[in-house]
Amino acid sequence: MSTPPHKDPIRVDVTTGSHPSTIWIGDGVADRLPDLLASHNVGARRFVVSSPAIWKLHGEQLTRVLGATEPILLPDGERYKNTQTVSKIYEALIRAGADRGSAIIAVGGGVVGDTAGFGAATFLRGITLVHVPTTLLAQVDSSIGGKVGVNHTLGKNLIGAFHQPAVVAIDPLFLRTLPRREFRSGLYEVVKYGVIASRGLFDRIARETKAIFARDPDVLVPAIVESVQIKADVVSKDEREGGLRRILNFGHTVGHALEAVTKYRRFRHGEAIAYGMLAAADLAVARGALADRERQALAQLIAQLGPLPPIGDLSIDEIIEGVRRDKKVVHGKLHFVIAIEIGATMTVDDVTEDEIRAVLVRLGMK
Ligand SMILES: NC(=O)c1ccc[n+]([C@@H]2O[C@H](COP(=O)([O-])OP(=O)(O)OC[C@H]3O[C@@H](n4cnc5c(N)ncnc54)[C@H](O)[C@@H]3O)[C@@H](O)[C@H]2O)c1
Ligand SMILES: [Zn+2]
Repeated sequence: MSTPPHKDPIRVDVTTGSHPSTIWIGDGVADRLPDLLASHNVGARRFVVSSPAIWKLHGEQLTRVLGATEPILLPDGERYKNTQTVSKIYEALIRAGADRGSAIIAVGGGVVGDTAGFGAATFLRGITLVHVPTTLLAQVDSSIGGKVGVNHTLGKNLIGAFHQPAVVAIDPLFLRTLPRREFRSGLYEVVKYGVIASRGLFDRIARETKAIFARDPDVLVPAIVESVQIKADVVSKDEREGGLRRILNFGHTVGHALEAVTKYRRFRHGEAIAYGMLAAADLAVARGALADRERQALAQLIAQLGPLPPIGDLSIDEIIEGVRRDKKVVHGKLHFVIAIEIGATMTVDDVTEDEIRAVLVRLGMK
């Protein structure tokens, strides 16, 4: 972590009806946290929430930057993203005498961010939240947009709130310690942004795959910035998912079902979304909405990014059941985001089970 910041950080604003949220992106941004927090009036009582694994890697740097702090460390892993873990946060805050002017600084991936964020949304009816995302997925997706929450034993992300972070400090230098598979998982979400809104981004990932994996800042930082801009733009126009925000769910209908039927053990989130994007593209081709060469370009890029866990043994009936249960079924209709070209999507609400079944057969499930 000794590389000097080579460029000024980029600022992106999320302007929603509730609370404004400012995102700073750039190598070395974490070292500027004290200034960023001060300039956005984040209170002086700050509670860092992280996990032992992340703190072991980056705690020293953050302690140096933020001053001596006793972090609230949450057990690492999706299975701890639950209300018991949130209770641990409440307990630590209450014991330390936190008040309405206190702030939570969530340092970690989406699990820490969602859990700590839910704690911030609910403690004393809401205290200031700052995200310092340390996975690529958290940097381009989960730290932006204000969705926070935890899982229930009966389903994922069922307990939650909207709580915009006051500040998001995205430092791509954190990604140097991220395992390749976690990095790839986030990269599929970057590909998603390309498909829904930017052919340029899509093409750059395809062309510069090696440089991206090498965390070359000249390629990686702009890819993160563009992804963040796309999400921030969508969220600013539609914070509560009235319509437009649904395009962010491209690939997530089948993707979520894949995660659910494999009990969240087989796939990293992005890997399931990679399959979900292939399914959505295939469905679009079958409907005549997308040219087959566009689907092939997507399949080629996904293949190029690395192997995905197998799906040949998964039951189509179970996936269909999972799709039905998905939160995106509104009044019995399945809203489905399909690509019409790389860089543009539309939402359709008349997708039938038979269509999905045919797609899953072609993807190779049984
Ligand atoms: N709120 C939202 O809008 C939103 C959007 C997408 C996903 N999510 C949620 O995000 C979660 C997934 O997030 P994730 O993919 O970041 O997973 P994660 O938080 O589980 O992190 C993945 C792993 O990487 C480790 N890690 C984190 N930073 C590291 C670093 N810099 N170096 C080395 N290891 C590091 C973690 O300890 C963990 O083991 C899911 O719970 C999902 O529901 C939320
Ligand atoms: Zn996702």
